[in-house]
Amino acid sequence: MTSIDSLLHENRTFPPSPEFAAQAIAQPEIYEAAAADRLGFWAEQARALHWHTPFTQTLDWSDAPFAKWFADGRLNVAYNCLDRHVEAGHGDRVAIHWEGEPGDQRTITYAELTAEVKRAANAIAALGVGQGDRVAIYLPMIPEAVVAMLAVARLGAIHSVVFGGFSSESLRARIDDAEAKLVITADGGWRKGRVVTLKDTVDAAIEADITDGKPSTIEHVLVVKRAENDIAWIEGRDLWWHDALAAAPAEHEAEAFEAENPLFILYTSGTTGRPKGILHTSGGFLTQTAYTHQNVFDLHPETDVFWCTADVGWVTGHSYMVYGPLANGATQVMYEGTPDTPHPGRWWELIEKYKVTILYTAPTAIRSFMKAGREVPDRFDLSSIRLLGSVGEPINPEAWIWYRDVIGGGKVPVVDTWWQTETGAIMVSPLPGITAAKPGSAQVPLPGISIDVLDDDGKPVGPGKGGLLVITEPWPSMLRGIWGDPERYVDTYWSKFGDKYFAGDGAHYDEDGDLWLLGRVDDVMNVSGHRLSTAEIESALVSHPIVAESAVVGAADETTGQAVVAFVILRVEHAEDHTTEEAAVLLRGHVSEAIGAIARPRNIFIVTELPKTRSGKIMRRLLRDVAEGRAVGDTTTLADTTVMEAIADRLSGGVRSED
Ligand code: PRX
Repeated sequence: MTSIDSLLHENRTFPPSPEFAAQAIAQPEIYEAAAADRLGFWAEQARALHWHTPFTQTLDWSDAPFAKWFADGRLNVAYNCLDRHVEAGHGDRVAIHWEGEPGDQRTITYAELTAEVKRAANAIAALGVGQGDRVAIYLPMIPEAVVAMLAVARLGAIHSVVFGGFSSESLRARIDDAEAKLVITADGGWRKGRVVTLKDTVDAAIEADITDGKPSTIEHVLVVKRAENDIAWIEGRDLWWHDALAAAPAEHEAEAFEAENPLFILYTSGTTGRPKGILHTSGGFLTQTAYTHQNVFDLHPETDVFWCTADVGWVTGHSYMVYGPLANGATQVMYEGTPDTPHPGRWWELIEKYKVTILYTAPTAIRSFMKAGREVPDRFDLSSIRLLGSVGEPINPEAWIWYRDVIGGGKVPVVDTWWQTETGAIMVSPLPGITAAKPGSAQVPLPGISIDVLDDDGKPVGPGKGGLLVITEPWPSMLRGIWGDPERYVDTYWSKFGDKYFAGDGAHYDEDGDLWLLGRVDDVMNVSGHRLSTAEIESALVSHPIVAESAVVGAADETTGQAVVAFVILRVEHAEDHTTEEAAVLLRGHVSEAIGAIARPRNIFIVTELPKTRSGKIMRRLLRDVAEGRAVGDTTTLADTTVMEAIADRLSGGVRSED
């Protein structure tokens, strides 16, 4: 600890070693090239892909904020991630070293992955899926998740991957919103030593009567056999993945689609109760994920073994486990389970086993490893690591230094990468062979990206002052909209500053021009690097019959960054039915069912009133003070200034549970 303290105190930066800098893919000229001709720079990045029809136009911003990139070009995303590597003679290169939680393993080469995706594309097409159709994917972290995504992409259809931890209700809401006709799932997947019964959840989602009796749009359920658990079966609707693939022809020619053909929808939380279907398209998304993956992670595909630990259900899994790495012909590790199953050194064991050279993970994971102590990673040989990445939330300097020291042997570059589901790819990050890294800061916009920090009136704040992070120029992997809701797209991201994209994050520049992220400025929480909406959890809580009103805040948490804390008023007629503890347990379970376990509040406080302004707005700031154990701030704008005392009196009623 002493050494960490002194390092932090010195405000040290960590320049790349001369050896690293010399071999790095991104050299300092890259910044000049992008600044001299931004669009020309992006066009050059795009030309690294295979285009069936080359584009002549780079950006069409005439219908801003709806962008078109490389619009007259045609390509096939899956072909770029698969066939072209095989055709270039890399068919024998390992694409995926997969490890199941119970210890089973599979090694899949580019040739094998290509063959599997071709069969899957034929099987999925045989179910009536074609260009523009939506396919929901609800799978564990098994290779079939990658195969399914690429097969859907190969057909020009649109995937909507739903994280396997979401409840049947959440899954159904996403299926309905996208009007998906097929869902690809598994009987079950392994997590924490247990089987998660995904097919049961899919059945419940399809059968649920949540849309006034309207049946779900799902016509077929394609089921991967993974955990061999018993499942219900509906003849005609349900099909085994292995049967469908075995019956499908082996050959499938990749058709070219326009660059703006939609690639996927990924739902993320906003400030209302309804998740937003973030829409990404093909050419621009693939260009920027491939470019960032190569330059930020310094990928040398012949020698590196890359491991992004994100689940495929989040954007990080899309951009840096599927599209970016595969477009670059990378060799990757994919792991099904949790980091501590069956032992707390599982990740380090995998790094040693597969000689992982680049690890990309989230600060919440790093902090929980720190808590467990360095003895665990120290038992393994991590000397293959040559670069570390962080994503999902601000990384505190202590965790940054620990990560570099303990996992990186005190010598490797660490890249803190800022981006969002909406940006599709990394936007702000050091470049590992160029930037002198500064623990805790995401530092500089990537070449080709323009960022600023503005005050509420849209004026740049200048160094040292906090403000709002904006992106001032369109970028290739930017979201193209919110599925089915163009107005919400314009309203959420473009109404505040007109021609600049408002990210929803607070930030400031320091004197060196490095960017520090300060967390969300809206009612969006960041729990373990996952986005959750206060409004969504509040509406889940009030949907329970015993709840009259609720307010949810994100409170600082040592490990998860933020934690969900709920304040709940029970209906008078139910107020005596349950003890406070019982009510809290009941409601935590209810949120789990309504949204998924990730949204389950850490604490639920049963209160009799909520702090509100005279106009009836809940003062979350005060609740956050209470939740974080601080003295409550200024209460003068409260309609009833005694409320906070009443809440403080009730605090002992909070239930904390870590299960
Ligand atoms: O608040 C920022 C935070 O995560 C949000 C985006 O969440 P999501 O769309 O789920 O994507 C997560 C993975 C890209 C941002 O608005 N965030 C992400 N990365 C960082 C970060 N905050 C600080 N530093 C980061 N490196």
